[in-house]
Amino acid sequence: MALADFVAELDALEAAAVSAFAAAKDAAALEAARVEFTGAKAGRLKAAQQGLGKVDKADKPAAGKRFNEAKQAVEAALAAAQERMAKADKPRAAEAFDPTLPGRRLRLGHLHPVTQTIADMKDIMGRLGFTAVEGPEIEDEWHNFEALNIPRTHPARDPLDNFYLATAQAGAKTQANGSAGQGEKPLLLRSQTSTVQIRVMEGTPPPVRIISLGRVYRPDTADATHYPMFHQIEGLYVDRRVTMADLKSVLRLFCQSYFGKDEVHIRFRPSFFPFTEPSVEVDMNWQGGWMEMGGAGMVDPNVLRAVGYDPEEVTGFAFGLGVERVCMRQHGITDIRALYENDVRFLSQF
Ligand code: PHE
Repeated sequence: MALADFVAELDALEAAAVSAFAAAKDAAALEAARVEFTGAKAGRLKAAQQGLGKVDKADKPAAGKRFNEAKQAVEAALAAAQERMAKADKPRAAEAFDPTLPGRRLRLGHLHPVTQTIADMKDIMGRLGFTAVEGPEIEDEWHNFEALNIPRTHPARDPLDNFYLATAQAGAKTQANGSAGQGEKPLLLRSQTSTVQIRVMEGTPPPVRIISLGRVYRPDTADATHYPMFHQIEGLYVDRRVTMADLKSVLRLFCQSYFGKDEVHIRFRPSFFPFTEPSVEVDMNWQGGWMEMGGAGMVDPNVLRAVGYDPEEVTGFAFGLGVERVCMRQHGITDIRALYENDVRFLSQF
């Protein structure tokens, strides 16, 4: 190759590289240009260097000199463009942070209305001397029925009125065959918090003064006032000479404290529960209008006996009230389903 051709080729390459680097608008464009001209494998400088070998021997020193000049010029143009790019980036990054903008608001969550009601109830009953205890949501028939004086023939034990666990039923079947599972006990989701009365009395000698707050389950179709899962507050007070008057006083104090300064009245209506005798339905009057709250009564001697207490020595009262009802009444909520749809627009109001 003639020297003149080689030099002309280098001149064109140098000019093209310098203008490409200068024209690059962003880092990606600059990188593409860098690879095109100075890429180690297929860059155009590399190709030109290979052309050096084809120049006539006598012209080699001059050709090599020109090649080095061109290479330096291209590299200098690249470095200048990279520097320009780095500088251009900085002011833009600084602009992105505007210290005068207001900060982003933190979105604070809060407790579910039912959880708030439960906390308030624990607080009030705690001041009346009742200790909060917990019991399991999966129960056996002894604690949910038997010990509560609900015999096997009682309609409340109908499998269609309870959430028996499928595994437990499978266990019961094997037992019926007589083949296996002798120790298997049918299990169900507790249908009432009265189970906890039994658990506490089994483990503690009298006197006992407890409340238990938690979920209970019944296969009800959901409507404005029913839901297959809801909460109850259970109260139990067993000691010498506990009377029905104590029950009414405690319930009135409880409701009065919960609903605040307005007068609250408690009304008892005769009723029946297998585990209390006598039994009553509890109604509450607040801001006009009676509301059913749940059941109550004096603990049946059979129940005291089932847990090893002496009914001649001690008496007690028990009550079980619906937590959602109280919560709904307080806030004027008219449909229980709204509490469990988890719609933030609804829940954020409380
Ligand atoms: N366990 C009863 C129910 O769920 C309520 C109750 C509790 C009644 C304690 C009397 C005593 O309906």
